[in-house]
Amino acid sequence: MQIINTLEELIKVRKSINKSIGFVPTMGALHDGHISLIKLARENNQIIIVSIFVNPTQFLAHEDLDKYPRKDLEDIEICKNNNVDYIFMPNKEMMYQGLDEVLIKAPKLSSYILEGKTRPGHFDGVLQVVLKLFNLVRPTNAYFGKKDAQQLSLISQMVKDLFLDINIIECEIIREEDGLALSSRNIYLSKEHRIEALKISQSLNKAKELIQNNIIDTNEIKFEMINIMNTLDIEYIAFVNREFNEIKYIEKNNTIILIVAKFNNTRLLDNLWV
Ligand code: PAF
Repeated sequence: MQIINTLEELIKVRKSINKSIGFVPTMGALHDGHISLIKLARENNQIIIVSIFVNPTQFLAHEDLDKYPRKDLEDIEICKNNNVDYIFMPNKEMMYQGLDEVLIKAPKLSSYILEGKTRPGHFDGVLQVVLKLFNLVRPTNAYFGKKDAQQLSLISQMVKDLFLDINIIECEIIREEDGLALSSRNIYLSKEHRIEALKISQSLNKAKELIQNNIIDTNEIKFEMINIMNTLDIEYIAFVNREFNEIKYIEKNNTIILIVAKFNNTRLLDNLWV
């Protein structure tokens, strides 16, 4: 495995590769969720490139950029153990070279709702860095988790709208045995918060059960979900179709139920695709 720290090195390596490339962009602090993306990429590509870059432009001024977990040595070990070929670990100065650069704007309607409402501009930063990474790595397939459903949808739209020749591969949410969706931010949870946090996945399980019993009215489902999460600080529960339009009735195989709940300063996201 080769660790690449400069743009020049990456460009040189990329020029030498004439094989299929599976790309897993990350912000590090790798967990089993990321490992599942790497494993899937490993199965379907000849070369695997993982990037580790905590992208400042997707954090709002008051957010946890400085506190965001950084675990470079552990991450390198994880990549080595999972047969990654190259890790690209740039710094901020390499990725953002000018003060007045060309900017990517996420679509207005779908990027300023849900996550984008609480974090206005967040998705501009995500798309900006993902496009830069795509242009550098020029992957065949790029892997993203369904847990960040809105991010996944906007990246897929960017690829379509900007005619990028890259397949976006949607990857399943990985959960702890108790149901908690894996996230690099889970380490911020105290024992008590963690017990409370489990109510999020429990409420999604309840929604799944109701839908299996042919309940399709989202208000009815939401009511039951809130009952389970009644001690939590819920920021939103949303029912959307794959285009991220809000729906009143469940559309089977075309619905995502999204939840965000907060504990002190930690926001936990989870969702269910039905
Ligand atoms: O999901 C993430 O870790 C980040 O948003 C991404 C896609 C690596 C862009 O910085």
